[in-house]
Amino acid sequence: MQNNLIEIKNLFVEYKIESALHEQKKVFAVNNLSLEIKQGEIFSIAGESGCGKSTLGKAILRLVEVKSGEVLCPTNNSYKDILKLNKKDLKKFRQNAQIIFQNPYSSLNPKMKIYDILKEPLIVNKELKSLKSLSKKDIEQIIFNTIEQVGLDKSALSLYPHEFSGGQRQRIAIARALILKPQFIVADEPVSALDVSIQAQIINLLNDLKKKFNLTFLFISHDLSVIKYLSDRVGIMYLGEIVEIGTSEEIFNTPKHPYTEALLSANPGNKKEKIILTGDLPSPSDLPSGCKFHTRCPHVMEICKTVRPCKTQFSETHCGYCHLY
Ligand SMILES: Nc1ncnc2c1ncn2[C@@H]1O[C@H](COP(=O)(O)OP(=O)(O)OP(=O)(O)O)[C@@H](O)[C@H]1O
Ligand SMILES: [Mg+2]
Repeated sequence: MQNNLIEIKNLFVEYKIESALHEQKKVFAVNNLSLEIKQGEIFSIAGESGCGKSTLGKAILRLVEVKSGEVLCPTNNSYKDILKLNKKDLKKFRQNAQIIFQNPYSSLNPKMKIYDILKEPLIVNKELKSLKSLSKKDIEQIIFNTIEQVGLDKSALSLYPHEFSGGQRQRIAIARALILKPQFIVADEPVSALDVSIQAQIINLLNDLKKKFNLTFLFISHDLSVIKYLSDRVGIMYLGEIVEIGTSEEIFNTPKHPYTEALLSANPGNKKEKIILTGDLPSPSDLPSGCKFHTRCPHVMEICKTVRPCKTQFSETHCGYCHLY
């Protein structure tokens, strides 16, 4: 059995927004979410736009403020809560945990050459033990190795981001994420902005890098075909909550939650009858009581309207939150 790399417990993230009428409102983006990410796996999160996928990824890396909960990281037989790390320890954690965003163009500084983009994390984190003694030559060698690992030639290093195609730019963003030799990468829709023909190349690159460096991924996507192809385990998210978690086979072959079934049926590759959900996605500022899916669920019962469903275990690796079980 693989060890857990990250354990998220009862995580809540809220955003405060101001409405057009200057009313203060809260957006409940992640609600009481718990899950584990195992060492060396690709754990994917799927769900509709606005369900809180990116917020979850950012919260794990402390790129957004968390209201409450824990993000535990087992280190040297003890558990560290990422949310409680001081500045110095957070820097160390960030060396180990990186993020790749959807749009490589906006995440790469257009005024910097690729060499400098890749050098920056090594310089900014210079006080870290593993980087302290690096000579200029060592830094150059790390940059040369990393650009080759993502399938680009060294000549790319003297160019600017705008001189590359979208796929190549995403390779550079991946190289930047890899340069500090992290263990864990959050990949937030890393291929959604790319042409379909390029998507497969980047997906294969991520898969190869995962195997080569024993990386662990939190992979965020709304493309279920990509998730099915790539993932070891999958979590389905609805209005800031996880509604079902299982291995890729369990989620795609024997989905249990009515929301998972509806999501899978809306996938273009689906051959079964389409499940059309009635009702709109409720606003994350005004969450339904009980099971959050009850306002759209084809199997809704009285209890669903008031009582939050408990966890049901379908197998050792498969669980969900639904009153049908
Ligand atoms: N900085 C912010 N300030 C206020 N509200 C925000 C902010 N970021 C996200 N939200 C809101 O929080 C909710 C969750 O957003 P999030 O971006 O995490 O969803 P998502 O699942 O990643 O969506 P998508 O698939 O469109 O990327 C949404 O209602 C969104 O509008
Ligand atoms: Mg997102």
